[in-house]
Amino acid sequence: MESIYDILIKEHNMVSDLFQQVLRDNSRETLLKIKAALDPHMAGEEKLFYSELEKKEELSELVSHAVEEHDEARSIMSELESMKEGDKNWTSKIKELKESIDHHVEEEEGEVFEKAQKVISQKKAEEIAQQYLEFKKSFKQETPASMH
Ligand SMILES: [Fe+2]
Ligand SMILES: [Fe+2]
Repeated sequence: MESIYDILIKEHNMVSDLFQQVLRDNSRETLLKIKAALDPHMAGEEKLFYSELEKKEELSELVSHAVEEHDEARSIMSELESMKEGDKNWTSKIKELKESIDHHVEEEEGEVFEKAQKVISQKKAEEIAQQYLEFKKSFKQETPASMH
């Protein structure tokens, strides 16, 4: 059965493909696809995965660092949402977001998943995977992009 790590890695790869695409087409449409992938991913990680890790005192710093990186990505994304695709800082902002996400994913797949596998059983990792998929089904964007 799929574990939470399998699913998260698959989504990281999908987002990485979308970044390749947005660097080619520079379009707001592709950027919004990235947002639509990232929002439920980060929210689901925080609610179902990080929350489990936080139960271990020794992982609390690692988790709060990861959440800070999510917040940084959200903040760059909201700057981008307030821009038009032709704006002079558009491309550099997209690169900034990509770098921020690349860095976070590297830490997550390296350090976070490795430490998580030591404290979460395989069975639990499969349960979290199921909860995560359910969560994503019910996830609603808090603020529609059109309201920005
Ligand atoms: Fe992730
Ligand atoms: Fe994350």
